[in-house]
Amino acid sequence: MTTAQTQIATDDEEALILAAVRELVAEKVAPRAAEIDATGEFPWDIKELFAQNDLLGIPIPSEYGGLGGTFLTYVKVVEEIAKACASSALIVAVQELGMLPIVIGGSDEQKHRFLPKIASGEHLVAYALTEVSSGSDALGSMRTRAEKRGDAYVLNGQKIWITNGSVADVVCVFAVTDPAAGSRGVTAFVVEKGTPGFSVGNIEKKMGIRGSPTVELVFQDCEIPAANRLGEEGEGFKIAMKVLDKSRPGIAAQALGIAAGALDYATNYAKERVAFGKPIGQHQGVGFMLADMKTEVEAARLMLYQAAQRCDEGSADVTLWAAMAKLKCGDVAMSVTTDAVQVLGGFGYSADYPVERMMRDAKITQIYEGTQQIQRLVISRKLVGRA
Ligand code: CAA
Repeated sequence: MTTAQTQIATDDEEALILAAVRELVAEKVAPRAAEIDATGEFPWDIKELFAQNDLLGIPIPSEYGGLGGTFLTYVKVVEEIAKACASSALIVAVQELGMLPIVIGGSDEQKHRFLPKIASGEHLVAYALTEVSSGSDALGSMRTRAEKRGDAYVLNGQKIWITNGSVADVVCVFAVTDPAAGSRGVTAFVVEKGTPGFSVGNIEKKMGIRGSPTVELVFQDCEIPAANRLGEEGEGFKIAMKVLDKSRPGIAAQALGIAAGALDYATNYAKERVAFGKPIGQHQGVGFMLADMKTEVEAARLMLYQAAQRCDEGSADVTLWAAMAKLKCGDVAMSVTTDAVQVLGGFGYSADYPVERMMRDAKITQIYEGTQQIQRLVISRKLVGRA
């Protein structure tokens, strides 16, 4: 593995990183996956493993302590981890999601202040956009307020569904600074753990990704220095949207990894399980299912890698491709894991086999970072505009 200071420049370096990640996953992550799901506890050991192997700051520029890697390398790493454990893959993906507002909206001073500790894994970071009434309608229904008082802002409100919110050292929070200004009335801030008035509320009990804490964050007269504002007042919503353009491929990678992991397991099972005198994969009913699953996984992978390359190129159509990749990979994750359960029959429905967990984990990829309906909205607006 290269050091945190090294720029990833070549395909060879990417291949080395991926080979190392595969080894880590096989030796350390896969054996923990069922336990992480069963206990529902954040896997600090896995987070440390990723930190020690420089996996928590892959796309952070090397001048701020990251690997300076490409988005393509980053999504491939998330995919590899998600093949074995979706909760563990989310540690890498949410570190990227959380640091992106700083990369996109932060000043050089803020990048030097926050990014090195995020890249090294000393600090975990979260992204706080969603509220009780503002999920899909992130802008129109945002209620968290930030009022300027002297050289500080005072935050009041709640955020919900915040992945890693209870374990994060820093949280990028979006709040309304001017209720009359619409999309130009939202501002982004970095809130540091331990700031008076900032606390963790309800912790969700979830169907899947159980090793990844999803929490409510409460801001009650929470005073933060103006030096923690990202960008100018009113730039927050655009920062939030630009972040999602680059983070949705990370969730697409998680989805693809879950699907690929389920396909591998179902394929091996179909080669070994015998019914009516031959392996079940040799029966057309099962063989054709596997053929469709494989085709969908490979189609999703092509789309995801295209989206990631467009992120790397700074392409103008990154919003479109990020949404299409998330849509395709999320739907493939759900259909392939459901079919994997079917291939295993009764065993697939048992928690003793991993495809049951994979099917539960897949569902969230159709919901978070914008539901599949929101991805379709984004895509269709790019095609035909809006009224
Ligand atoms: N890049 C830059 N600017 C953008 C943009 C983009 N991709 N998308 C929108 N904007 C700008 C628009 O140009 C517009 O600017 P002006 O007002 O200056 O013209 C402004 O932002 C408002 O845009 P819209 O009018 O399109 O806003 P809207 O209210 O119609 O909503 C939306 C747009 C796409 C539906 C958006 O609200 C959205 O993406 N919703 C889903 C939210 C979401 O994905 N939440 C996920 C939370 S994070 C999470 O889930 C993480 C996790 O747990 C792991």
